[in-house]
Amino acid sequence: MSTFTIDTSTSRATPSPVPGKRMTAPSIRARKVDGKTEQPIVMLTAYTMRMAQLLDPHCDMLLVGDSLGQVIYGLPSTIPVTMEMMCAHGAAVVRGSWHALVGVDMPFGSYEQSPAQAFESASRIMTETGCAAVTLEGGEAMAPTIEFLTHRGIPVIGHVGLTPQAVNILGGYGARGKDERESQKIAMDARAVAKAGAFCIVVEGVMEGLASQIARDLLTPIIGIGASPDCDGQVLVTDDMLGMFERTPRFVKRYDDLAARIGDAAAAYAAEVRERRFPTADQTYKPKS
Ligand code: KIV
Repeated sequence: MSTFTIDTSTSRATPSPVPGKRMTAPSIRARKVDGKTEQPIVMLTAYTMRMAQLLDPHCDMLLVGDSLGQVIYGLPSTIPVTMEMMCAHGAAVVRGSWHALVGVDMPFGSYEQSPAQAFESASRIMTETGCAAVTLEGGEAMAPTIEFLTHRGIPVIGHVGLTPQAVNILGGYGARGKDERESQKIAMDARAVAKAGAFCIVVEGVMEGLASQIARDLLTPIIGIGASPDCDGQVLVTDDMLGMFERTPRFVKRYDDLAARIGDAAAAYAAEVRERRFPTADQTYKPKS
């Protein structure tokens, strides 16, 4: 059963959805013309309906990243993230948005075994969430899978460079492409993913020169995260850029300090409850006289 429709008149979710045409895989792809992108592609992660509503008017793409494992569930990595999590959060983000293209990460273990396994997982994600694209990590090794999916109606966002699902092989989350051999491998990965038909590629955590080179060389839009300003677009984990965590990676710019503001609001509420200053008459039901 699909889970992505909602009766907005009975929900506090979307009081007035603006009916509009969403961004599509071809419209994102078409942003890059003759190797140049005039208008950079704006992408942020979203995991919940309400956050999707707030971000949607400002973004071309919303990514339901498997980073939700750490951000929402407190898991140590993205490895234990399940299909059920991705489908539930993907559907919520689709319900909360009407403009941005929503892409959903395929969780670890749901696509690597074979193109057929990937098709089964991707089609489940698309039918259960209503999203318009799936994301999968990996370069040359995943190219046949990306080709298999795109030839069967599933738009794919590639993801190369630092690929967090491979943390156990990589040995950590440090930047990639620090030596010539690794740089060349990542450039070949990006080329293979583009050739296989990905409509855009996330390049994560690589040295500046490498990201610029990939963005320059390929006709496919490159979305950078910890990559370079020369990419065709940028993505960040929303909770990082909002300042929800004390520790943020070097490539993150904090646009707010929400953790502190939430802490202040909770402290004010707690003090008023303890001092019996909340609720007041304004928040109390009284019988009509
Ligand atoms: O899972 C995620 O949020 C991601 C982005 C950081 C690109 O992969």
